[in-house]
Formats: sequence, C-alpha cells, structure tokens
Amino acid sequence: MIVLGIETSCDETGIAIINDKYEILANVLYSQIDLHSVYGGVVPEIASRSHIEKIDILFNEALKQANLKLEDIDVIAATSGPGLIGGLLIGTTFAKSICYATGKPYMAVNHLQGHALMSRLTHNTNYPFLLVLTSGGHCQILEVKGTNDFTILGTTIDDAAGEAFDKVAKLLGYEYPGGGKIDALAKQGDSKRFKLPLPLINEDNCNFSFSGMKSAVRNIVAKGEIKTEQDKYDLCASFQSALCKCFEKKVQRALKETGLKTLVVSGGVARNSELRQTLTDVANKLGVDTHIPDPKLCTDNGVMIAVAGLENAKLNQFSSLNTTPRPRWPLEELKS
Ligand code: KG4
Ligand code: ZN
Repeated sequence: MIVLGIETSCDETGIAIINDKYEILANVLYSQIDLHSVYGGVVPEIASRSHIEKIDILFNEALKQANLKLEDIDVIAATSGPGLIGGLLIGTTFAKSICYATGKPYMAVNHLQGHALMSRLTHNTNYPFLLVLTSGGHCQILEVKGTNDFTILGTTIDDAAGEAFDKVAKLLGYEYPGGGKIDALAKQGDSKRFKLPLPLINEDNCNFSFSGMKSAVRNIVAKGEIKTEQDKYDLCASFQSALCKCFEKKVQRALKETGLKTLVVSGGVARNSELRQTLTDVANKLGVDTHIPDPKLCTDNGVMIAVAGLENAKLNQFSSLNTTPRPRWPLEELKS
C-alpha cells in the first residue's frame, strides 16, 4: 500500500509518500517562516495564500521524487485538524478533489495523531506507550494504547512549551519561531545565572504551566538586566533548563504511575537538544526505552500525516468526502 500525506495546518506545506514498509519514498516541504517572521507570528491569510500557491507544485515534486504516477498511490491522507481553517480547507480540498476524480480512498487525519505516530516509522514503536506531545500549540502527556486510543494524563493549563519558547525569543529580540535559536544560544550560556519559577512542579499531577516562567523572563528584561550577548545566552540557558526540569518531573511521574516501558517524544519542541537528553535520561533511569524521531521529522511535515493515514488504512478506517475540517480536534475524540 502506498500513502500520500498532505500537511497544511499551519505554516508549512508538506507532501510525502510512504509505503507500508514505512519507507519514505518522497518528502517535500515548503516552510513559510520567512513570510511570517517579520510579523512575529503566523498570519493566517498569508499562510492560506502560500499553501494555495505551493500545494500543486509540491504534489508534482513528490511524485517525481518517488518516481511514481498518481495511479500508483492507494490512499490520499490530509490534515483535517486541528489547525488554521484556511490551510486545512486547502489541503483537504486538494486531497478530496483527487479522490473524487480518481475514486481513491480519502483519509482525514488528525495533525496531533501524525506527531504521535511518527515514531511508528522511525523506531517501529509498539503500543502501548507514553507520549509527550510538545509543539507550538500543544503540550500534553498521553497514554497511547492503539492507533486511535489516546488518554490525556496531563496538559498545559496556559501556554504550550513551543509558544513559551517563541515568546521568550521575541522578548530577547529574535525572529519567530525562536525555539531553535534559544536551543543554539543556550549552549553558550550559564543555566544557573537566573532563577526562574518552576510552576506546578511539586503538584500531584502531570500538568504544566509556562506563562509564569515567561513573565519572569519579561521582568528580567524589563529591569534592564540583559545588556550583553552573554546575558542573553545565560537567560536562554536558564529558561530552557527551567522548562526541562518541569518536563523531567512530570514525565517521571507519568512513567511511574503508568508503568509504561516506552517513551515517545514528538512535536516541534522535541527537536530541543536539552529536552531530548533530559527525557532520555529520565527514561533510562526507569529502564524505559526512548523513541524520539529525528529532529527534522519532529516539526510539521507530510510524512507524519502519511504515517497516520497508513495506520488508519491498515484498520480499514477511511473518511467520507463529506468530512469537514476541524480547527479544534482533541486526540481523545478519535476513540469514538
Ligand atoms: O510541531 P510544530 O512544527 O508546529 C505545531 O504543530 O505547533 O512545532 C513548532 C514549534 C515552534 O514553537 C518552535 O519554536 C518549536 O516548535 N521548536 C523548538 C525547537 N525547534 C522548533 N523549540 C525548542 N527547541 C528547538 N530546537
Ligand atoms: Zn505540529
């Protein structure tokens, strides 16, 4: 079986083709970051226009890269939510049009499920596993018992971790999205220089809160404490270290509570080098395997949508062409 995956939920147009041996036959991606960075965040209208401009070009490029024709594709999967409605409409309409014209089956994929199941391709992960899903818009710890069986154990009560990274980067004058920049600069900084709050860390649950941490950074900047480049590096290192400490504690709790033996970390923030190391160490101490996809496959891409499409196709669960995109679509609703 050959699956084509289309991702258009935010600021990346991604198209990929995989086969049922989980081999990537094509993976093409156009990142809109340069279009949005001058505005300090994603502008939905600009995102939609860019998806329209690029989608058919990338589609043809993907077929060429895989050395395949449209006739060779068995399933067309597209992100149907959560995300920005303009982008979702473009990707799903493109996918449905192909299905309507060719009679091929359509798969409306949940974007978060794509992140969640990415490691089925990279690490051959088996169910059940503990999932840390951390991106620009989401930050959750979940127990995953099957392709569509997700139970939330903890979530952020305010900002997502990626959002906090991006806001802190903005406070320090770096372009959107600033997570990667903080990761790089933190390597040259002293993480003990600034003491930041660790919200909810001692609370008896698996929830996160990052807005207080971000406000503390804002206060340090407002007080004029950041004068040199080294001051910036130290603040990046202190912030990243504080955030990783929260993840360390909550993931340790979730692993102990559930007794799960595999830890998967996914979503854009799973690219973060310190977080990858911290969570690998936590898991190692408990004798748990860690499956973290290659950094390039952690941020949004078409492969993850093709993987979720393949997993559902294996269960013979396809979508009607009447399925409408959903800007909000919690993972737990996949059960029903
Ligand atoms: O999963 P993703 O591509 O898009 C969403 O679904 O949100 O995640 C994007 C987020 C951004 O907030 C970005 O700053 C963050 O991932 N990110 C990072 C790193 N690389 C990307 N955060 C921390 N460290 C990184 N190396
Ligand atoms: Zn994402």
